[in-house]
Amino acid sequence: MRVRSYRQEQNRKVRRRKIAFWTSMVVIIGSIAFGATHFFIQHLEAAKVTVDTNTSEVYPGLNLKTTTKEAKYYTESISLALVEEKEINQTIGDWTHAEETNFISKVDDQKEELAAIEDKHLLPHLNIQTDTKKLADRIYSLELISEQVFNQEDQSKQYLPILMDLNTNERLDAGDFFELKEDPDNLHEIQEIIVEHILSEEGIANLVDESKAKGAVSNPEGWNLHTDLETVYFYFAEDELLANALGPIKIAVPMDELVYYLNPIFAEKLGIEIPEKVVQLDSDGKYVAITFDDGPHATVTPRVLDTLKEHNALATFYMLGSQIDYYPEMAKRVADEGHELADHTMSHKFLPKLSYAEIEAEIQQSNDNMEAATGLLPKSLRPPYGAFNDNVKAIAAEKDLPIIMWSVDSLDWKYRNVDSIHSRVMSAVHPGAIILLHDIHATTADALPGLLTALENEGYEMVTVSQLLDLAELEDIGPHHGIDY
Ligand code: NI
Repeated sequence: MRVRSYRQEQNRKVRRRKIAFWTSMVVIIGSIAFGATHFFIQHLEAAKVTVDTNTSEVYPGLNLKTTTKEAKYYTESISLALVEEKEINQTIGDWTHAEETNFISKVDDQKEELAAIEDKHLLPHLNIQTDTKKLADRIYSLELISEQVFNQEDQSKQYLPILMDLNTNERLDAGDFFELKEDPDNLHEIQEIIVEHILSEEGIANLVDESKAKGAVSNPEGWNLHTDLETVYFYFAEDELLANALGPIKIAVPMDELVYYLNPIFAEKLGIEIPEKVVQLDSDGKYVAITFDDGPHATVTPRVLDTLKEHNALATFYMLGSQIDYYPEMAKRVADEGHELADHTMSHKFLPKLSYAEIEAEIQQSNDNMEAATGLLPKSLRPPYGAFNDNVKAIAAEKDLPIIMWSVDSLDWKYRNVDSIHSRVMSAVHPGAIILLHDIHATTADALPGLLTALENEGYEMVTVSQLLDLAELEDIGPHHGIDY
């Protein structure tokens, strides 16, 4: 997944050797110090230990190691999924060891009281289990859960989530899981989703401060995550979200909400198809559909697309089949950037003057060109000059293409002037409006940044014609002047 240069690899090796040296020094010194107290417990407890290691047919690459221990003052059962890869094993081993050390030192503090307990079932118990989710061949998400049970009131839990790809022997992090580099908006949107779930999490919803929640998710390098592909779990240490939490907090976020942000490389390994983002429209929202006719154009369309992207706005492009013929890559780019493709016929003829067969050919040819260039079919039809008759209606109905007009005319083709376009649109715009523009005039591209900013300032959100139609159908809001089927 991560590509490292030779030099990085060398640096890493040197670093690893240094780490290995200091780790062994710490272990040696630590053992001398720890041994003294530990020996005392070992000496008193006469522990009975059983260890069992099994390779798994269900989880290739994972070895299940089960340890049970009955000591004088405590019991333990530990099930770990170990792997060949040293660093991952080390992480699991270190965490388990820290949990056990913490547990035993707490037992040690209480051993006088514990000496009075005769029923070994009432002794403190350390239980470490591994919940293994197989995501794909040799790709696993593990959740290690450590529970220390001293008595009914005194219990605590800790988690260690580990995501790994044993095909490349790597532990995966948030950047492997999500696409955080290519699309910088993603990080912000994922953070918003996690924060929303933290703030509505049962039991802590009213206690968590929003700024604290935002702080806890600010750095994706610190995200601890686990998934079964239905749900993604995020883990926070006790003090990350609340001042006085009783333990770590695990937040569940449905994969449905996060699937749009998956790293495509990771998604492909898992066989997950990343769907197009679906905007949830709300009936009280102020939505407009911006439409561009007569393109795609070699120089204007790219400028329009850049501006739309900057404003995170979607638009609908009523393309001419004859233009797609010249600029198929531009049609593809429009589609790739999530905008809606729609039909403006093959060659911009006045349809009511044509025969039934000629109208059909005008629409079919442009649809064929669009499909060849983009793999997509148009979602609606806008007849040139807004002119149609019963034949056009019948053909459009047969091809399942609603006929879409407009409710705000910028007259950008007539007055090639930024101020004129701006004032005509802004004086007529209304919620549910369909705005007519043309991506073949440079002045239209010039006017777009100011127009989008003004619309945003008035609280409008830019959606596609189909989204507006769905909303009109569901919520019966409008007015959608000029829409006719
Ligand atoms: Ni036109």
